Amino acid sequence: MFDLVVRGRVFSGNLRQGSVYIKDGKIARVTADDSERAERRVLLRPNQFLLPAATDLHVHLRDWNQAYKETVESGTKAALSGGITTIAEMPNTDPRLDTAENVRRRIKLLRERSYVDFAVHAGVPERVSELERMRAAGSFAVKIYPQEMPRFREVALTAERLGMKIAIHAEVGAMIGTSGEPLAEVDCVKGLLSLVGRGMNVRFAHISTVAAAALINRKRGEGFNMRMEVTPHHLFMTRLLSESRIGLASSVRPPLRSGGNVRKVRSLLRRSVFDFYATDHAPHSRKEKSSENPAPGFSGLEFAFPLLLAREGPGRACKLYCENPAKHLGIRKGLVERGYEADLVIFSRRSWPIDPSKFVSKGRVTPFEGDTLDYAVDIVFKAGRVAYETNRFRKQGVTAVPPAAKKGD
Ligand code: DOR
Ligand code: ZN
Repeated sequence: MFDLVVRGRVFSGNLRQGSVYIKDGKIARVTADDSERAERRVLLRPNQFLLPAATDLHVHLRDWNQAYKETVESGTKAALSGGITTIAEMPNTDPRLDTAENVRRRIKLLRERSYVDFAVHAGVPERVSELERMRAAGSFAVKIYPQEMPRFREVALTAERLGMKIAIHAEVGAMIGTSGEPLAEVDCVKGLLSLVGRGMNVRFAHISTVAAAALINRKRGEGFNMRMEVTPHHLFMTRLLSESRIGLASSVRPPLRSGGNVRKVRSLLRRSVFDFYATDHAPHSRKEKSSENPAPGFSGLEFAFPLLLAREGPGRACKLYCENPAKHLGIRKGLVERGYEADLVIFSRRSWPIDPSKFVSKGRVTPFEGDTLDYAVDIVFKAGRVAYETNRFRKQGVTAVPPAAKKGD
């Protein structure tokens, strides 16, 4: 006897009528008919459909000394309500995740407070030898920020030797905020591509320009193991529209781009140049966002999945936000197939406005404010159990994603 069956329109390659049977937290069977028995049965309404839950590889949860911006609890509830059941945390917390001890403390906090499964990026440590202990403490990757670029080879070679993945914020630090700014990303990528080795597993975070994407894409055609993320705001928001809505609070790293660039980035998405969609959820207080010199970054977890679904359809949304990132972390999620974890989302087709004042996240600034979306998250299952249902959360057990075992996967 199965624990649960969800019957209705299900995404499995495309949306079709079917039944998804769940047993012991996993998808046990996917069939076209409804012939088996289960303890609980959920029948989807005609305006509802079932998708895999998302994995977001780029999230800032803050907490600790920045709990006023976000906490693990508020941020992971925001994720869950947006149909996301796994996140990868960035290390620029306060204090930073740049020692094995801090990575251990962070994983302990996440185990206690997170509502979703998680992976942790290590920050670049003072001495590169610390990375081995950080990996043993549970980091799957190291994140390299603009100011750390001079140490790229040293850090990346160590990560390669340890079988750790490498995530890069590619901007030339010295160009940020200057008139040379538009080239900050392209110049950094150009410089890095000559330093990347064939054994390195490299992920470029939030690529925002066509030129940088094209350079990376060409290099990977030569057999380098590189991947690219794209954010909701670089795909679907222009600098002008954002500034007309939220003025100076439009500040984000890398910056928002022109309409022409946004259109081209979207066409690259349709040509499968990007591997991952990731929010770069970077919550700040209203005060910090409305200052003369606003903190860079936006909140995004609560609407990123419905937004991508509405703009690009379920096929591309599931590939970029469910299947590919889960594969990158080496977890059995992101597909509605037998043997995969039963982390699933029931969406319905109904309009709702993006209203930051209603966010679960403490970060309430986004240029998408006021946009209307056509799809909404109704229910989120985590390991076959309801973890979220119309503004109610049920904390389920969470798993720390272990370091990826194999090189090159
Ligand atoms: O906009 C950004 N915000 N870009 C970053 O690289 C950091 C992030 C943050 O932590 O606020
Ligand atoms: Zn970030």
